[in-house]
Amino acid sequence: MTPHPTLTNRYANTEQKPAFVNGLFDAGAAHYDSVVDWGFLRSGSSYRRWTLQRHDNPPGPPLLDVACGTGLVAAEAAKILGSADTITCLDPSEGMLAEAKKKLNAKFVVGRAESLPFPDNSFDFLTMGYALRHVTSLEQTFREYRRVLKPGGKLLILEVTKPEGSVRGFFFRIYFGKIYPGLTQLFTRSRAAKDMMVYYWETMDACVPPATVLAALREAGFADAKRIPLLGLFSEYVATKT
Ligand SMILES: C[S@@+](CC[C@H](N)C(=O)[O-])C[C@H]1O[C@@H](n2cnc3c(N)ncnc32)[C@H](O)[C@@H]1O
Repeated sequence: MTPHPTLTNRYANTEQKPAFVNGLFDAGAAHYDSVVDWGFLRSGSSYRRWTLQRHDNPPGPPLLDVACGTGLVAAEAAKILGSADTITCLDPSEGMLAEAKKKLNAKFVVGRAESLPFPDNSFDFLTMGYALRHVTSLEQTFREYRRVLKPGGKLLILEVTKPEGSVRGFFFRIYFGKIYPGLTQLFTRSRAAKDMMVYYWETMDACVPPATVLAALREAGFADAKRIPLLGLFSEYVATKT
């Protein structure tokens, strides 16, 4: 199962998706932090930290942050842990990793969620922030997450989910589909940054519903898989490896 149907306006098939997504994030990396900072009303860092604190209990380090991007989730984890020594950050985009390295002294690895370059039973806690839409297979990704987690290890996936209901859906569409990419172009003067946010919207719009994500987590063998929605907009998926 793919997290969304093939976006044929972007690539012809799933095989072409990784190269397209990588190019997009490499090109937009320098603008990512500022764009998501004001785009989410400066709530991003405190929301990531608050969510980690609520869910990383009891598992602690070692922690793997998949799709670390510029390191926004890992940086908050490091604040909680007091250091980044036990944090591994993985991402396929060299551009995003270069930004992360400026703010964090973690271990950095180039790689993809669908094929993690780590031995079985390596981590106690695995996080993924706002990137599930970019993988090519939910089942393959979740099988890999289960494989690298230790027994009892926990998974936390953060996502933005298109709200149900026509009124909220309408405002969501207007903001993420039009206003956010438009303001991104205006503030950054970067076509690459705008493209990144247009694609952000396209993948959210086309994304499978939460029930499909939960079914894929269970199929991969995770226990206690559940979604915690927030404000009808944010999704926190949590699950445990038994
Ligand atoms: C929207 S950014 C999220 C960055 C960060 N986690 C955050 O909370 O802001 C999405 C990231 O997913 C990465 N990505 C794309 N495809 C991926 C894949 N197949 N496996 C792992 N990461 C991927 C991109 O390179 C990008 O850095």
